[in-house]
Amino acid sequence: MLLAIIGSQWGDEGKGKVTDFYAEKSDIVVRFQGGNNAGHTIVVGDKTYKFHLMPSGAVHKKSLVLGNGVVIDPKVLIEEIERLKKDGFNPDISISDRANIIMPYHRILDGIEEKMKGSFAAGTTRKGIGPCYSDKISRFGIRFSDLLDTEVFKEKLNLIVPIKQKLFDAFGEDVKLDIESIYNEYMSYREYLKNYIKDTSVFLNNSYDKGSNILMEGAQGAHLDIDHGIYPFTTSSNTNAGGICTGSGISPNKINGIVGVMKAYTSRVGEGPFPAELNDKEGEYLREKGREFGTTTGRPRRCGWLDLVLVNYACLINNFSALAMTKIDVLTGMKKIKICYAYEYEGKILHHFPSNMKILSKCKPLYKEFDGWEEFDWMKVKDTKSLPKQIYSYVDYIEKQTKTPICMISFGPKRDETLILNDVFRGV
Ligand code: IMP
Repeated sequence: MLLAIIGSQWGDEGKGKVTDFYAEKSDIVVRFQGGNNAGHTIVVGDKTYKFHLMPSGAVHKKSLVLGNGVVIDPKVLIEEIERLKKDGFNPDISISDRANIIMPYHRILDGIEEKMKGSFAAGTTRKGIGPCYSDKISRFGIRFSDLLDTEVFKEKLNLIVPIKQKLFDAFGEDVKLDIESIYNEYMSYREYLKNYIKDTSVFLNNSYDKGSNILMEGAQGAHLDIDHGIYPFTTSSNTNAGGICTGSGISPNKINGIVGVMKAYTSRVGEGPFPAELNDKEGEYLREKGREFGTTTGRPRRCGWLDLVLVNYACLINNFSALAMTKIDVLTGMKKIKICYAYEYEGKILHHFPSNMKILSKCKPLYKEFDGWEEFDWMKVKDTKSLPKQIYSYVDYIEKQTKTPICMISFGPKRDETLILNDVFRGV
């Protein structure tokens, strides 16, 4: 059985908690794209874990896989492994020998490229993700299989580092790359990581064929996808379901279910048009109450009402089996709550997310208004029918508009603050 978790908005939907829930029922948890630009928060009892690279199944002592589609900063990975070891976990992790490695020059280039892009800068996390993927595509990348072969690794450094140095010199950057010290630094990572590196496609396919439960953990969200997101304000990987196959070496016909994670409102970190954004007290309320500050960069997230044009587009390209709704508790106490169901652009009604940034920036959100609800005892709620009627109409409207059932409603960061409506792992 293979189940996938995909963010349906701009990332930060609360995928860490949803993944954690399904990870408990899985044997293997896999990341297939992105890198340490992601930030997943998991709360277990009184302890909060924040991961950037490590699949969220780490705290369940599951097999963990970083697939070929992930770009990996080995230093960050080692730090996360060490932190887990200190907490008594001994992560059973496999790193794809085909995964690309983030090098020091990628992080520097990330900053330079952002400066050069002016108003087209995405506001990246500056972790070197984009430059690493660029090198992968232009075939200047260094993969873990190269790290294992010290001669090839050195040969590649001798070729690539002088090219990057020329770029830095041309940009007038005060950076001096030293091949020897990069080599030595990465050899120490090699020593630490070498036993974790393997052909993860073979491992995953064999495990699937033997009946293992595999969970594919998407990072970022549908609208940060390099192809389907709001380009160029995107990340540089395929964050949608298609990325599962290319990023892990698993065939599409092995995917049994895809859960889209949707926050009960919208947030965005970084630049780009955001039609349902609230630049007022309500936006501030959502940010403060929802603790909407980036896990990776600490930046305040921009907040707005739930935008179903955005979510519906994610439903379209992912064909979600179900939606997991998170952070509905953040809306508690608001008098009126709105959902954006369409955009108005120059007198026309748009139901599909436009690809043109100029059009998107001129789109006006059309809202349906809902009555808010006050505090109540969530623990007494067993199904949607026992929800306060205002929440029920909010949930019902979303299910109807997205034509997708809601399988889970999360009303707090803790594991037991979750209403399960449908066990997707058994239901697909
Ligand atoms: P990059 O992935 O660091 O290149 O950043 C590109 C864009 O994606 C920026 O707008 C980031 O803020 C955004 N981004 C990257 N990772 C995440 C994430 O995990 N959550 C939310 N936004 C992200």
